[in-house]
Amino acid sequence: KEEDASPLWEAYELAARYYHHLLMNTEQGKEAYDYLLNRGVTVEQMETFRLGYAPNQPRMLKELLEKREFDIEEMVDGGLLFRRESSWDIYDRFRHRIMFPIHNAKGKVKAFGGRSLGEQEPKYLNSPETSIFLKHESLYGIHLARGPIRKKNQAVLFEGYADVIAASGAGVTNGIAALGTALSERQVQWIRRNTDQVLLCYDGDEAGQKAAWKAGALFEKEKVNVQVALLPDKVDPDDYIRKHGSEKFKKDILNSSVSITSFKMKYLRKNKNLNNEGDKLAYVETVIKEIVKLPGAVEQDIYLRQLAEEFSLSLDALNEEKERLARTRQ
Ligand code: CTP
Ligand code: MN
Ligand code: MN
Ligand code: MN
Ligand code: MN
Repeated sequence: KEEDASPLWEAYELAARYYHHLLMNTEQGKEAYDYLLNRGVTVEQMETFRLGYAPNQPRMLKELLEKREFDIEEMVDGGLLFRRESSWDIYDRFRHRIMFPIHNAKGKVKAFGGRSLGEQEPKYLNSPETSIFLKHESLYGIHLARGPIRKKNQAVLFEGYADVIAASGAGVTNGIAALGTALSERQVQWIRRNTDQVLLCYDGDEAGQKAAWKAGALFEKEKVNVQVALLPDKVDPDDYIRKHGSEKFKKDILNSSVSITSFKMKYLRKNKNLNNEGDKLAYVETVIKEIVKLPGAVEQDIYLRQLAEEFSLSLDALNEEKERLARTRQ
């Protein structure tokens, strides 16, 4: 393929090596190094994920790229450098950030996510899309996780870079993340080619739950079996592991995951006052519509019984309603 010949591959590899060196071995990188250690990222994880530090200076990478005779215009288009419109000056795109290299499945660096060290906005600055980097077909961590995903026949999907890294420290080697945007069909298809089982482990806030709902629907469309791990509100996997440790994370979060249907039932119930008859009926109806979509009769029966018990409704009535909805679906 043509893009295999792009000089960007070499430039990104050089940048990744340079940033990693600054983080691991230099005084300049010490603040970032300490920041990561403070967040519970180990030296081993810094090595495994090739984390780096982009220095707080305007043209360090630019000078390196010039010295190695890269075409500077190409490096601007390729997203490593940045031209300020007002002055036409060219700078490094990433300054004073923790660098997370984004690899393709073969392990070649094609982009970066750069995190600010403190509260500076934007929290993450990512590479723009280039001839070698399309966001919607990229997944963070796939070069490391592909083997384990196949071997375990399961992928664990997180929201953030930090979650993938923290989970790897807990032995979750089959973890990957989309790059901050909603999951795309291309990403789902890549996963589908490697496994038919996904464990969604998104952040425990409203945005995370919403994203899990949408991701779940995409996977169901591709006939991927989906389980959902539930985090406490406002806690993400990285926070949880730091606070409670790996063992508790595996036991109480990953191994306590629920089916996508249970997740939906929980989600639909949230913020609803089900003492109100109208709300209750609407809820029951919505859940039955979800149950109708389930492929197995036994599976359907399990959730119908749950519903019947929860609201003291007769199973017969629920079954009748299910049949009615099943007919209108065709
Ligand atoms: N993200 C992004 N740009 C932002 C915010 C988020 O690209 N301004 C992406 C990043 O890939 C990030 C993911 O969305 O990893 C999840 O966002 P969030 O939960 O806010 O970040 P965390 O991964 O939890 O990062 P941290 O723990 O460092 O705060
Ligand atoms: Mn190293
Ligand atoms: Mn989040
Ligand atoms: Mn998060
Ligand atoms: Mn986080």
